[in-house]
Amino acid sequence: MTSDTNHQKFALTTPLYYVNDVPHTGSAYTTMIADVIARWKRLEGYSVLFITGTDEHGQKIERTASSKGLDPQTHCDQIVTSFESLWHKLDIQYDRFSRTTAARHHAIVNEFFQKVWDKGDIYLAQQQGWYCVACEEFKEERELIENHHCPIHTNLKVEWRDEENYFFRLSQYQEKLEHLYANAPNFIGPESRRNEVLNFVKQGLQDFSISRINVEWGFPIPNDPKHTIYVWFDALLAYITALLEPNQEPTLENALSNWWPINLHLIGKDILRFHAVYWPAMLMSAGYSLPKQVFGHGFLTKNGQKMGKSLGNTLDPFDLVQRYGSDAVRYYFLKEIELGKDGDFNETRFVNIVNADLANDLGNLLNRTLGMVKKYCQSKGPQIKGSNLAPDHPLKIIGLELGDKVTQGYSALRFSQVCEEILNLIRASNKFIDESAPWSLFKQGQQAEVEQVLYAVLESVRLAAYLLSPIIPNLSTKIYRQLSFSVDFNHLNQIQEVANFAIHSQWGQLSTNLELSQPEPIFTKLELPLDDS
Ligand code: MSP
Repeated sequence: MTSDTNHQKFALTTPLYYVNDVPHTGSAYTTMIADVIARWKRLEGYSVLFITGTDEHGQKIERTASSKGLDPQTHCDQIVTSFESLWHKLDIQYDRFSRTTAARHHAIVNEFFQKVWDKGDIYLAQQQGWYCVACEEFKEERELIENHHCPIHTNLKVEWRDEENYFFRLSQYQEKLEHLYANAPNFIGPESRRNEVLNFVKQGLQDFSISRINVEWGFPIPNDPKHTIYVWFDALLAYITALLEPNQEPTLENALSNWWPINLHLIGKDILRFHAVYWPAMLMSAGYSLPKQVFGHGFLTKNGQKMGKSLGNTLDPFDLVQRYGSDAVRYYFLKEIELGKDGDFNETRFVNIVNADLANDLGNLLNRTLGMVKKYCQSKGPQIKGSNLAPDHPLKIIGLELGDKVTQGYSALRFSQVCEEILNLIRASNKFIDESAPWSLFKQGQQAEVEQVLYAVLESVRLAAYLLSPIIPNLSTKIYRQLSFSVDFNHLNQIQEVANFAIHSQWGQLSTNLELSQPEPIFTKLELPLDDS
């Protein structure tokens, strides 16, 4: 990393979640990934703005609230607290929580609507078509499955609509969008999703309706208040509202002055079209620059079907984190599901993987190595430096390349690969300590060799903890504490990060003057509940 990057900014978003229900593990998945990216960027020294929030308008929320006998705002306020609470439990460090019902957001939506109106991109016409309330989206007849059910919410029927709506002239932006995809090949990731979008756009873009007449729960269209603004038009703009400083006057100019353009919109593949087609076209119409990247990840599935609130097949994230802790949950989803692909959750596999990697390979290695340091070096820490070790030392070879490999992996959002690379060093360390047998070296009076072995292993564990800290911040903090550092990966301040990245991300930095504390187990093995085993 060059020092220039220390001053760069990075803004990223999760989708703004519908508040029709409390969050499920699918919502948690996107947010955990975004948090890992945000933490990694902060570690590298970037100024980061991590935005999440809730999408609270529209028919889906209106109906849910009414079925509970609540007014929509009361319902939203209740559900929002459960999102905030889950993010807290999962150690999500967001900077902004954007709610589409905020008054400041209303001001931003009105101003944006006016710009698009002034451009001549909005007109009134008749809308006929099949609507999925759970998706909040019109569907083509050919997309529907048997009995007019939605292909995503397979248990729900789409509803026929025939009403007057305001439309946005998306068709005007066909060429400009094609130009964008050609000139900014990274705008849509991963590659497979990019192709989907290119194919969709190639078929010809149709204008889409941006108002509703039978939905009260939304912002009224300025000058025609019997219409409310379509929930997606409203929600996408809340990414912009989130850029305002807490007490700033809510104008587009203010909102876009500091953090725009957003670097990354992390989303699920079902909402790619809104982000990669509608959103850039809306921004082009209003005359603004575009976000740098939209990345569509896969679905968490249960028995092959998208896990979701509408399908009622979710896994309770509160329960998961309560039983297993946030590091375990974060680690599993980041390592086990290649970003971009779908992944099935299986609890036995979850427990086995986390125990194998974090409890056995990493935790036990640190614990037994510290035990040996205590025994063979009087807890002083090995009196050796990385630079003293031969260039062909097996751990040094892996360790010296690891920082760069992992940096590349994080930048490319290849988190499984990041975990594998780091585990490779940890597994090599386990093998190395077994083969070097410091206990025999000690008996033979070879103190210098004993210290070399222990140093190399401890330094490898330290480096692994540092590089994994965006994923398992609590465990990394415990490891660092055991190695006598006072770093808390949940409370890094900007100065400390900038000063430390270049040093900590390199193998061979462990000091010779460690005041090692009493070794303590850092990760308790997970256990399956009895009825699941
Ligand atoms: N409100 C819109 C987003 C507006 S953004 C301006 C929305 N909300 S949602 O709550 O339905 O979905 C939010 C995100 O969660 C989407 O990216 C969606 O893909 C993701 N997931 C919902 N279920 C999921 C899984 N089962 N697996 C992985 N992600 C899933 O869409």
